[in-house]
Amino acid sequence: MKGIIVAMPQTEATMKKQTSAAPDSAVSVRNVSKNYGTVEALKNLSLEFPRGQLTSLLGPSGCGKTTLLKIIAGLLQPTSGRIEVNGAEVEGPGPDRAFVFQDFALLPWASVIRNVAFGLELRGVAKSERESIAERYIRDVGLTGFEHSYPHELSGGMRQRVGLARALSVDAQVLLLDEPFSAVDEQTRRKFQEDLLSLVKHENKTFIFVTHSIEEAVYVSDQIAILLPRPSRVSEIIRPTGFRHKDVDSIRRDPEYLDIVDQIWASLRSYVE
Ligand SMILES: Nc1ncnc2c1ncn2[C@@H]1O[C@H](COP(=O)(O)OP(=O)(O)O)[C@@H](O)[C@H]1O
Ligand SMILES: [Mg+2]
Repeated sequence: MKGIIVAMPQTEATMKKQTSAAPDSAVSVRNVSKNYGTVEALKNLSLEFPRGQLTSLLGPSGCGKTTLLKIIAGLLQPTSGRIEVNGAEVEGPGPDRAFVFQDFALLPWASVIRNVAFGLELRGVAKSERESIAERYIRDVGLTGFEHSYPHELSGGMRQRVGLARALSVDAQVLLLDEPFSAVDEQTRRKFQEDLLSLVKHENKTFIFVTHSIEEAVYVSDQIAILLPRPSRVSEIIRPTGFRHKDVDSIRRDPEYLDIVDQIWASLRSYVE
């Protein structure tokens, strides 16, 4: 096993160690708990998200991954604990964070370019400027030629790319992606994963990525946080190191990649019945 595995029983001592190991965090989650009535979704969860890297949240269904993302986005208040973005406490949604929703959340009556530019429109950016920014990201996500199509004319994979282009165009430092690839076919998904790796490499943004696919998490991540079943906290942090700079086609055959996939499955299988 060559990846760095940081076991994380959440005691004060290990939390301090983890904080000092990752000094340049774009986002810090500190002792966050979230209850929905009597349902405890998150319990005392702490996690650092290194700047410019992609961190995956991986865990059983219902363990609170979406809840954590919404709290980081400022869309939900934690019951206790705090979130910091660049050292400042999150008190609500802000332009430093952009959310790519699981269900695309596109405006059905608006064209691709208007959807992509919508975040900028809300900020009052002039039409010509926001459309030229939107065009750039439409190109980056591979949708050139579809600027004037409407969401219902696109496949699920293409709609997801529109959502991604919208999040990129507002130029948030932190991108929150909630299972963005779950509704697309396997080939499209693999292409997305490659594109995501290239975005992480070239965009210098911090990506927080929720997935339930072990292979996907290992393929795209600099850091993987394994969450326990509800009430959730982090059980393990894994940082694949050896294959991160290999070309996209050889990652899935890399021995370290295969080892880490096996090891995560060994941790998670006890929660799957
Ligand atoms: N608005 C809500 N009201 C009550 N319970 C909720 C609400 N949202 C989520 N939950 C519960 O909180 C737990 C975590 O949900 P969620 O964050 O969606 O998990 P995940 O994204 O990991 O599947 C689940 O048990 C879910 O049923
Ligand atoms: Mg979810």
